[in-house]
Amino acid sequence: MDFEPGGFEQLWADLAPLGRSAASGGYFRQPWTAADSELRAWFVEQAEARGLAVESDGVGNLVAWWGEGDHGVVTGSHLDSVLDGGAYDGPLGVVSGLLAVDRLHARGFEPSRPIGVSVFVEEEGSRFGLACLGSRLATGATTWEQARQLRDRDGIALADAVEQAGLPGAPGRLVEKIGCFVELHVEQGRDLVDRDAAVGVGSAIWPHGRYRFDFTGQANHAGTTRMEDRHDPMLSYAMTALAANKQARLAGQRATFGRLEVTPNGTNAIPSRVTAWLDARCDSDEALVAMVAEIERLATERAGRDGTQLAVTPESVSGAVHFDDALATRLAEVLGGAPVIPTGAGHDAGILAAAGVRTAMLFVRNPTGISHSPEEQASTADCLAGVEALADTLEELAR
Ligand code: GLV
Ligand code: MN
Ligand code: MN
Repeated sequence: MDFEPGGFEQLWADLAPLGRSAASGGYFRQPWTAADSELRAWFVEQAEARGLAVESDGVGNLVAWWGEGDHGVVTGSHLDSVLDGGAYDGPLGVVSGLLAVDRLHARGFEPSRPIGVSVFVEEEGSRFGLACLGSRLATGATTWEQARQLRDRDGIALADAVEQAGLPGAPGRLVEKIGCFVELHVEQGRDLVDRDAAVGVGSAIWPHGRYRFDFTGQANHAGTTRMEDRHDPMLSYAMTALAANKQARLAGQRATFGRLEVTPNGTNAIPSRVTAWLDARCDSDEALVAMVAEIERLATERAGRDGTQLAVTPESVSGAVHFDDALATRLAEVLGGAPVIPTGAGHDAGILAAAGVRTAMLFVRNPTGISHSPEEQASTADCLAGVEALADTLEELAR
C-alpha cells in the first residue's frame, strides 16, 4: 500500500462538517440527500485511496473489498443520522473499519478471506420510517417492491428519492458475499462506563417496533366550544403518551412518543387529527407484543371517552436478535476479557444476524451514555481502543 493513511483525528475532522447544522451542532444526514451523497463520496475516496474495490448496490449500500472471493469478513455500519443526531452513531463503525484495515496492513497481516468495509443506507429510518432499510433490502428481509412505495414527510416516494440520488434502485443481494459481519458502534447507554471498560462485545438486541397512532376528532373553535362538547384528539393522544410511559416503567421496558403531527396545528383551534409515533422496545418479543397491545387498549378506551377515533399501524417491527454466543465469547477472550452486553438500540448487524449471517458487535464506551442527540460523545482514546479491538477481531476471523 503506497497510500499514507491519516489517523483517526484526520478522518474524523474530514467527516465533521458533512451534514452538520450550524445552529445545533447536530447532524442531519438523511439518506438520498445532498449530505448523503457527500458522505458516500467521502467513503469511496477513502476506500479507493486504500486500494479497496468499492461495490455499490442499486440503493447505495456500499462494500469496499480488500481481496476477492466469497465468505468475506465484513465490518461496517452506517453514515446516516437521526434528525439532529450525534457524530458517532454509525460513522464511528465506518471510520473504525477503514482504520482497522490500515492497522492490519501495518501489521503485515495477509487475510485468508476477503475483508470488506460496509456502509448501509437509511439505518435510522429517519426519512422513510423503516429501521435498517438498507440492510433489509440487501438481505431481502424487505423487497424492493415493498420499499419503493414508502413515502417521506414531503410525500416523495422512495423509488424517486433513490433515482434523484443517481442510483438505479432495485437493491440486489450484496449480502451473498458476506460470510461473517462485525459492526462496531458507539455504546448508546452507560453499561461500559459502569464496567470501567473501553470496549464491549454485543450479546443481543432488544426487539423494537414503531407504530403510528392516528387519533381523529372534530376541528372546532378554541374559544366558543364548551369543554364538554369537544372531541379533541390531542387529549386522547396526551393520555396515551402518559399511559405508554407508565406501562414501560411498570414493566421495566421502553416506550417513547418522539414524533407528532397535528392537523391543522393552529393555536386557536381544536385539532381534527393528531398523528403520533410510538417507539417501543422490550426484553422479549412477547413482552413487546403485550406492552403495545396494552397501550393500544388504554388509548382506545380514552378515545371512546373523548369521542375520537384511533387507528394504529405498525410501520417497522424488528424481532429480538441473539448474536452467535460462541463467537461473542471468543471475541471477548481475544479482547482480553471484554464485557458482553445487550443493547436496546437497533443495528444493521441485527438484520444480518436474522438473515443467517454469523454476526457480532463491538461497542465503544460513551462517557455520558447520551445518543441520538448532538451531545453524543466518545473519547479519542476509547475510539482508538475500538479500532485496535476491531483489527484484532478481523485478524481472528480472517486468519
Ligand atoms: C437506531 O439507532 C435505533 O435504535 O432506533
Ligand atoms: Mn441510531
Ligand atoms: Mn447506529
